[in-house]
Amino acid sequence: MRKKIVAGNWKMNTSVEEGILLAKQISFLTKDLENGVEVIIAPPFTHLAGVSQVLKNEGGKVHLSAQNCADQLSGAYTGEVSAKMLEDVGCKYVIIGHSERREYYGETNETLLKKIEQALSAGLSPIFCVGEKLDERESNRHFEVVAEQITEVLYKLKGFDMSKVIVAYEPVWAIGTGKTASSDQAEEMHAYIRRVIGGKFPALADDISILYGGSCKPSNAQEIFAKENVDGGLIGGASLVAQDFIAIIKSF
Ligand code: PGA
Repeated sequence: MRKKIVAGNWKMNTSVEEGILLAKQISFLTKDLENGVEVIIAPPFTHLAGVSQVLKNEGGKVHLSAQNCADQLSGAYTGEVSAKMLEDVGCKYVIIGHSERREYYGETNETLLKKIEQALSAGLSPIFCVGEKLDERESNRHFEVVAEQITEVLYKLKGFDMSKVIVAYEPVWAIGTGKTASSDQAEEMHAYIRRVIGGKFPALADDISILYGGSCKPSNAQEIFAKENVDGGLIGGASLVAQDFIAIIKSF
């Protein structure tokens, strides 16, 4: 049985104080949640220790994720944060391969594979992002692009490791633009992603959670989450407002 997951990607937003408050609000508002959704928040690195403490104090129902990790274990890599450090501070998840990392920081499939391997060996579950850009969709290459992102990275993992991976489909043209993929477009791609995963991991494909991301908000989450192959969402902007994030979580 695959998990239903809603994860909030805070990106480079909030002060430490604001982040702590937001984490407290989310913990409080999810206390009585009984729809079986795993709730994850991914604050900036500087907030992780404080937020981790808040989540522990509040009973540990909300899980902690980082937004990125180093592709190396440890050593002379100024400015980097290792997967093991993230695990130490209380993270259970790490987002890897977000389109903003691919686009602005030149992260390649090769780097992303190393990051996933680091995450897995530190005991973290990677939330691996895939998705096509607007011109790729308009030229009808979206399936090909997403398949390549999967085969170049996830196909290199062993089955045991793959069982820990969560996939997030985030069409780049829908991120932060207010434009959402229609629920049918999301379902079509999610079903396709599951088939591609099945090409290498037939026994796992049905159990991998595939999240949708890209302008997901309270007004469209229910329709998107109702689709058979959509197992939740990776939420950017709307995860910064506790009430909106909770409304999305309750859309299941
Ligand atoms: P958005 O971002 O919800 O603000 O579009 C989603 C994401 O980038 O994960």
